[in-house]
Amino acid sequence: MNFPSLKSLQDVNIEQFQHDLISWYQEEKRDLPWRKDQDPYKVWVSEIMLQQTRVDTVIPYFNNFVDKFPTIEALADAEEEAVLKAWEGLGYYSRVRNLQTAVREVKDQYGGKVPDTKEEISSLKGVGPYTSGAILSIAYGVPEPAVDGNVMRVISRILSIWEDIAKASSRKIFEEAVRQLISKEDPSSFNQALMELGALICTPTSPSCLLCPVRDHCHAFHEGVQQELPVKTKKKNMRHVHLGAAVIATDEGDVLIQKRPESGLLANLWEFPNVELSGAGNPKMELELFFRKEYGLDVELQAESIAKIQHVFSHLTWDIDVYYGKIKKSPVTKEKSQWVKKGEVEHFAFSVSHQKIWQRAQEEAKS
Ligand code: ADE
Repeated sequence: MNFPSLKSLQDVNIEQFQHDLISWYQEEKRDLPWRKDQDPYKVWVSEIMLQQTRVDTVIPYFNNFVDKFPTIEALADAEEEAVLKAWEGLGYYSRVRNLQTAVREVKDQYGGKVPDTKEEISSLKGVGPYTSGAILSIAYGVPEPAVDGNVMRVISRILSIWEDIAKASSRKIFEEAVRQLISKEDPSSFNQALMELGALICTPTSPSCLLCPVRDHCHAFHEGVQQELPVKTKKKNMRHVHLGAAVIATDEGDVLIQKRPESGLLANLWEFPNVELSGAGNPKMELELFFRKEYGLDVELQAESIAKIQHVFSHLTWDIDVYYGKIKKSPVTKEKSQWVKKGEVEHFAFSVSHQKIWQRAQEEAKS
């Protein structure tokens, strides 16, 4: 393959670059729980968690997850509810649903051993080019690129590549660059070193070039353009949705919850009843009407909302007005909704915004 934007590769002393990068990594790498062994299953779990989520956030989730589901078998056989509960708060829940689907396939089709070829591993649900490259290189020592946004940033600077990293087509260029640069002796350290460099030194806004182990190889540093790279166009405007949500409780201490649809945003997670507001009317009245129509419940909510909560997804922002109300327990007509005891709410997996709603409602109930 011939990519004009990779012509600076000719000027890189590749062996020296590998040596400088990997030696620095061996000295400076963080002690992270998924680096304790090379179990392909644990590498897989960690790489899925680390997509779109920061290392510090992932650490406790990773430890808890591999404690609860230590093997392919254990995750394959687990209840989806329990798996979602272990992911609660991490976001992007399709990641874990796909992971469980894929792990079940590994159990059934590959005798419980994560496959070690690009073709097989890439055919698993939720395993794209980044994840397959990360598992193959870290767990199996195969010299495959593992290119995510951080690696694109690092490589765009080292080779002074001015392609827009927001465009899907750019990934191929960066993969080819890593194919040329990667150490055949230690692809695991090489790929993890690129990630580590991106996290610790070659950061998005003010890279610490003076501390960089591969500064001598870096075209952007020599040209003084490290702050201008990578080129990354802004995403389209976010959609805003205004929701009203309500916690309604009985004197006996039951609250009403419902399960989200089985596909789409936050699929199968639990939440408090909520509805998109028109923006025209009074949110409290719109919610009461919604309870009457959808649940067959006559609810009188408190006049004032008890919280305003914002939740930002990658493509969408929710602005939620939260209300609280007391009601006599009566049967509900809406499917996938149920009364649960206050003390049992925590057994269900909720999205972060609805966890916040529950915290705020409990304070309200006490006051
Ligand atoms: N980001 C993505 N994968 C990572 C890994 N294995 N270690 C640290 N940060 C990462």
